[in-house]
Amino acid sequence: MKFVSFTLFLSFLAGVWLNPVYAEPMVSLKKPPASLEQWYKPANKRQVWLHTMFRLRREMQAIAEYAEQNDPATDNKAAMEKWIKRLDKDYNKIVDMVPEWEEAIKPKLLPELAMFAEKGDMYRLGKTLKMIKRTCDDCHTYYQPLVTATFRSPHYDDIKLKDIGGDLSGKAQSFEENMEVLSESVNRILIALDDGHKSVALQSAKTLTDQLEVLGGSCNSCHKDDEYPRERILGKATQQRFEKLQANISAGRVKDSQKLMGEIAVTVCARCHNTHRIVSDLRNALLPEE
Ligand code: HEC
Ligand code: HEC
Ligand code: HEC
Repeated sequence: MKFVSFTLFLSFLAGVWLNPVYAEPMVSLKKPPASLEQWYKPANKRQVWLHTMFRLRREMQAIAEYAEQNDPATDNKAAMEKWIKRLDKDYNKIVDMVPEWEEAIKPKLLPELAMFAEKGDMYRLGKTLKMIKRTCDDCHTYYQPLVTATFRSPHYDDIKLKDIGGDLSGKAQSFEENMEVLSESVNRILIALDDGHKSVALQSAKTLTDQLEVLGGSCNSCHKDDEYPRERILGKATQQRFEKLQANISAGRVKDSQKLMGEIAVTVCARCHNTHRIVSDLRNALLPEE
């Protein structure tokens, strides 16, 4: 579910940001109203706002599809009326939940929708549905990106990485500090390989393994008791690459070692960055005051 929302988030941002390149003026994103927070975790037990949105979309789709079919032989009329009632209820919830958004919706359109359904006037029903849809789109254009970034994208600032002892003992790291030392270790290995400093390369490869072990302790602060994400990036395949790396460096096989470092950079660093860092960087760009 979260993954889907990231993709939407990204494509939405792309839509907003690419607009000026092609034609339209830049949309200025608006800060979400304060009362929205209570409808999101952790203030709420559930993502109430988001689930209301999912229902609205389903309701709009049901009504539109029945209107299109417009088949008197079936019992679609009753079904359509049922979905219109639900839409009415959920659409009005928008302002029950966030009174600041009173101007953003047009609740009077709902009784009109019901009336056209009752009369079987599918043409005007369709037009009314479009007018409702426009209120959805307008709000989304200005508010959706910042709401997603504020309430639903993971952030790494509060994560404290656990002390695992050994060489790294006594140094409680932030996520960002860990990233910086990871990067230093990777480059120290590559520099040492380039210059034929075998023992430096060996020691740095060992340090990198320890640093990744520390990082691995953080995965379950978000992934809870799901072991798969950690296994995918820091599991057996990665462990084996590091064992092979030690062996190659020890035996003086520089080219093979460099090749393995490339594989590690892709399967560990880049693979994780593609899901986590891209979203994190976007979040930081959108919410710079934090
Ligand atoms: C959890 C998966 C994950 C793994 C594995 C990972 N990174 Fe990162 N990396 C991140 C995230 C998330 C950020 C952004 C952190 C932030 O914004 O606080 C980041 C940021 C960075 C940064 C920028 C730090 C800064 O100052 O903003 C560097 C450099 C970096 N990573 C290097 C690496 C290297 C090298 C590796 C592999 C040895 C690696 N990372 C592995 C998730 C990961
Ligand atoms: C007054 C503002 C507002 C109005 C009106 C509104 N929405 Fe939303 N909607 C939002 C916000 C804010 C988000 C972003 C929520 C998030 O990412 O957590 C959103 C997100 C969504 C999503 C995306 C969920 C996802 O996959 O990430 C759907 C679907 C949706 N709205 C449907 C609708 C429909 C259908 C209507 C009209 C009937 C509507 N919304 C009217 C504010 C509004
Ligand atoms: C701050 C929260 C956070 C932390 C910390 C975090 N992740 Fe994730 N990760 C996410 C979110 C959100 C997603 C996308 C939704 C999902 O799959 O749960 C994700 C997705 C993934 C995925 C892709 C989906 C999958 O299950 O294959 C992998 C792999 C992954 N994370 C690995 C890791 C690893 C390894 C670590 C620790 C080194 C880590 N994550 C730490 C939030 C986090």
